Amino acid sequence: HLIEWDAEAAEKGGYPHFVIKEINEQPDALRRALLGRIHNGQLNLSEMEHMQKAGLLENIQRIIVVACGTSFHAGLIAKYVIERWARIPVETITAAEFRYCDPIVGPETLCIAVTQSGETADTLVGIRQAREHGAPVIAVTNVVSSAITRLADAVLYLQAGPEIGVVATKTFVSSVSALYLLGLYLGQQRGHLTAEQISTYTQALDMLPEQIQRILDQASSANDSIEPLAKKMSQLSSIMFIGRGVGYPTALEGALKLKEISYIHAEGFPAGELKHGSIALLDNLTPLVAIATQSHVYEKVVSNMQEVRARDAHIIAVATEGDEGIKEHADDIMYVPATLEELSPLLASVPLQLFAYHVAVARGCNVDQPRNLAKSVTVE
Ligand code: AGP
Repeated sequence: HLIEWDAEAAEKGGYPHFVIKEINEQPDALRRALLGRIHNGQLNLSEMEHMQKAGLLENIQRIIVVACGTSFHAGLIAKYVIERWARIPVETITAAEFRYCDPIVGPETLCIAVTQSGETADTLVGIRQAREHGAPVIAVTNVVSSAITRLADAVLYLQAGPEIGVVATKTFVSSVSALYLLGLYLGQQRGHLTAEQISTYTQALDMLPEQIQRILDQASSANDSIEPLAKKMSQLSSIMFIGRGVGYPTALEGALKLKEISYIHAEGFPAGELKHGSIALLDNLTPLVAIATQSHVYEKVVSNMQEVRARDAHIIAVATEGDEGIKEHADDIMYVPATLEELSPLLASVPLQLFAYHVAVARGCNVDQPRNLAKSVTVE
């Protein structure tokens, strides 16, 4: 038995669980997602050459991103950044809804399938339907030769390495970064981004791995605040997450991580929706996590936090390093390094992954294989 334990411990790289190992692999996973695709401020997405040469991108008038779960949240971030960078309408829809809504797609609709396993049944069926209507397809996946790759005109591989934990962590970060590269590529191709803008974004992307490493180093230091906070929150029955702009999908992903690994009910929603009903749920037993990193809607998020504070709810903020003002609006703060607004989900999601992990450990949950969950939902 000891030998078995050693073998398993070796597989986990000395970490107690695959999930925490994979959270800590994110800097390297992100480097591999960017490897060869950005160099000296230039973008090099060779995977797209065939589609470009075949004219499949020439007449694109809209984009539909099809995905499930965590990949759907990555797709929501893609909607915000592709619309901003390429000025083309993007709809992000869950695959199970897409396949049954008789979607309006054709050769002018670029479909992007985000699926780290490449085997999710609803995503495969939805994309097959889109192809039957003549839509060009780009797949974003982590598994070479997975089923989705056989339905795609181009494949952006995450290159994240195997992800054993059922909950997606490093593949989320890699999916989002691949979608950033695709958004910059489309913006460049459609003449909406200058070489200087491309350089600004690619240089900021290049800094993210070491910025994630700083978050991880802080979390494993003696003055880590995330694990103690998680232990304090581990007996709660409900936690809510809010955000605006790209902070909204970040809130959704933070909620999904928490509920699927710790079984605590968690809900993410747009901060602007708080007053339209959800605020009725908040009391001193239901904390609120606010994604309050620097953005053009930061003040709006802060005013939402003030509304909630007035109702005695405990507030946890994810904020940008150096933001002292946030301290008067939150009871606990998870700081992340400063980056460009569009890229902030890749940093803000890391403390939320760690929070979910430590809550689950404190609750004695099966962290690597949560109940009722499969790594890939290959049946509908
Ligand atoms: C992620 O933590 C979940 N386990 C799940 O939502 C997953 O993201 C979803 O099933 C999609 O998987 P895919 O990316 O392999 O298609």
